[in-house]
Amino acid sequence: MAGSGATFDVVVIGAGAAGLMAAATAGARGRRVLVIDHAERPGKKILMSGGGRCNFTNLESGPEHFLSDNPDFCRSALARYTPWEFLALVEGHGIPWVEKAAGQLFCRDSSRDIVTLLERENHAAGTTLWLETRVESVEAMEGGYRLATSAGPVTCESLIVATGGRSAPKMGATGFGYALAEQFGLQVLPTRPALVPFTLDEGLRRQLSELAGVSIPVEVAAGEAAFHEPMLITHRGLSGPAMLQVSGFWEPGEALTIDLLPGEAALDLLREWREDHPTRPLDRLLATRFPRRFARGLAALHGWTGPLQGYSNADLERAAATLAGWRLVPAGTEGWRTAEVTLGGVDTRALSSRTFEVQGQPGLYFIGEVLDVTGQLGGHNFQWAWASGIAAGRHA
Ligand code: FDA
Repeated sequence: MAGSGATFDVVVIGAGAAGLMAAATAGARGRRVLVIDHAERPGKKILMSGGGRCNFTNLESGPEHFLSDNPDFCRSALARYTPWEFLALVEGHGIPWVEKAAGQLFCRDSSRDIVTLLERENHAAGTTLWLETRVESVEAMEGGYRLATSAGPVTCESLIVATGGRSAPKMGATGFGYALAEQFGLQVLPTRPALVPFTLDEGLRRQLSELAGVSIPVEVAAGEAAFHEPMLITHRGLSGPAMLQVSGFWEPGEALTIDLLPGEAALDLLREWREDHPTRPLDRLLATRFPRRFARGLAALHGWTGPLQGYSNADLERAAATLAGWRLVPAGTEGWRTAEVTLGGVDTRALSSRTFEVQGQPGLYFIGEVLDVTGQLGGHNFQWAWASGIAAGRHA
């Protein structure tokens, strides 16, 4: 594959979503482009994404769906490459798609279709791909960069770092992009897993274990953020879109507040039940709102036994407070192994928001998830990969 002393206009490190998009864009401008990845195939995270159907964009994608220490940075790229443009590309390749929740677009058949799209775009743009290739070192030289790789030395004018975040290390994630950023004097903000399920301490986990598999719509809050989405109880703890979304806002040691009856006045409902069904136990009435197993488990957990007529006003108030604001302190999160994304990363203040080039370091670019820009659940992270890849690919 590699010769010795190969020369390219642009080298992209990382054949993931952002890197392949940047490479195809630069190649289409007539630049000679090389993409290097240490994995044995490109786009491994794309393949596993969206449960195998890749939630490839979100029609609502905008800055308000991203977390960053420098929140305005993402505006320019997101505005200059919209979800509609990526959708047009998907349709141009004849890929069938479906809209699941509002704005969330998935492949109808397989995530493989998106990898094939990127491979075809790269083929058409004449880019070169070296897989199973390690980048050993990078140094700046007059007019560009020199890389030592396991396939020999490479020089280039422009170097695009698209090595992704730390999540899902089995899919090829490394800290290489962060180390490279530090080598060139950029700040790397502390990283932590996000869009990740919560774990519970042994006692609570055991108490909830019989409810594993139950999914109910809730409103969950941590810090300033709240999400109205389904929560899934698992054998390890709490997951589902509500928990994944809120994980990015949760600080270790903090409680989650879970409204199990979002949009309903819990105390009014309990009073009404006591009035209308005084001889019924609470779990039977809760089963009209929740899956039966969950109603029973919740009542057992909180000692809600006996007919409702035996409940004082204070008892009802306590039960209502639990239903409207169940407070749980997670033991932690499942960590990098199952996290979808990485919070933190390369500080964007050092980059041009239009081109993604490092200020004062001509020809060096960082794009995609390696940056301190993290999207919410629902296709925003891929839209960021496409938009940042296009921005750098148009300039590098
Ligand atoms: P990405 O991780 O895609 O690519 C980085 C590439 O760099 C990899 O190919 C890796 O092998 C390579 N690399 C790393 N270190 C290297 C080194 N030292 N040398 C050479 N190569 C190196 N998002 C979304 O919008 N919708 C969704 O449905 C999902 N679903 C989803 C499911 C799961 C299980 C996960 C883990 C993640 C998601 N995501 C998602 C998030 C999404 O996958 C992620 O944000 C993008 O893939 C990020 O794109 P990048 O190109 O930045 O990194």
